[in-house]
Amino acid sequence: MFKDAIRQIMEGAVLHSIGPNGTPSESYYIARFKTLREPLGFPISAAKLPDDKQAIHAWVEENNKPVSVGRIHLIPEDSSGSCSDTSDANSTSCPDFLPLNQEGCIDSLGNILPNFNSIRPAVQIRQMGTIIGYQRKGYASLVLNELEKSAVKLWGSCTGLLQARRAAIPFYESQGWVSFGEEYMIDGIGPHISMWKPLTNNSQKGGE
Ligand SMILES: CC(C)(COP(=O)(O)OP(=O)(O)OC[C@H]1O[C@@H](n2cnc3c(N)ncnc32)[C@H](O)[C@@H]1OP(=O)(O)O)[C@@H](O)C(=O)NCCC(=O)NCCS
Repeated sequence: MFKDAIRQIMEGAVLHSIGPNGTPSESYYIARFKTLREPLGFPISAAKLPDDKQAIHAWVEENNKPVSVGRIHLIPEDSSGSCSDTSDANSTSCPDFLPLNQEGCIDSLGNILPNFNSIRPAVQIRQMGTIIGYQRKGYASLVLNELEKSAVKLWGSCTGLLQARRAAIPFYESQGWVSFGEEYMIDGIGPHISMWKPLTNNSQKGGE
């Protein structure tokens, strides 16, 4: 488990990371709610995920307030990635990642994804959001880079997977993630595309 690792990144902005088995503050979940849930009309209870304890969380604070957040978790060996979107009983479900079961998946740049026998450990990025007014300051990039680095430190070289909302695709592309497969709908949230990135010691900014 990583304790809360704190780094001063620029005047007034601080990058934090914690977990697995760490507990981010309520203000972290409020930032998640404001960026990802409130705009879609979800209640505050939808801000927490059932497996938040198993995830690594990273966030940027300005003036001690989280303004950009995200998490990464190891996809369990017996799972292909599908999971409930929130802890709420009537939560919508996010689908499996096909490459965890199927060989020969090709990404939008023509690369063949690793075979399902060699694609694990596989990790998933979820719940990335930057509060309006703090966007385009590089904060989500810092959060994502920190999550990728922490995952490699804890789980070794691994395959990163995520399900991106349409509007977030350019952000993930700017960080070296590549889309694959057809677009699909997640009920109550909207159209998504899956993306991937091989994560190694050298694949992040500041990696060894
Ligand atoms: C996607 C999101 C997390 C990006 O956060 P951010 O802190 O603004 O991202 P960054 O400042 O680190 O952006 C890094 C780069 O990504 C790209 N990028 C980010 N937002 C973009 C946008 N709206 N359109 C096009 N490119 C974008 C740019 O290349 C940017 O670099 P630049 O500002 O120097 O041009 C933020 O827009 C957000 O919270 N959106 C709503 C919630 C959401 O959709 N989350 C993702 C769910 S899958």
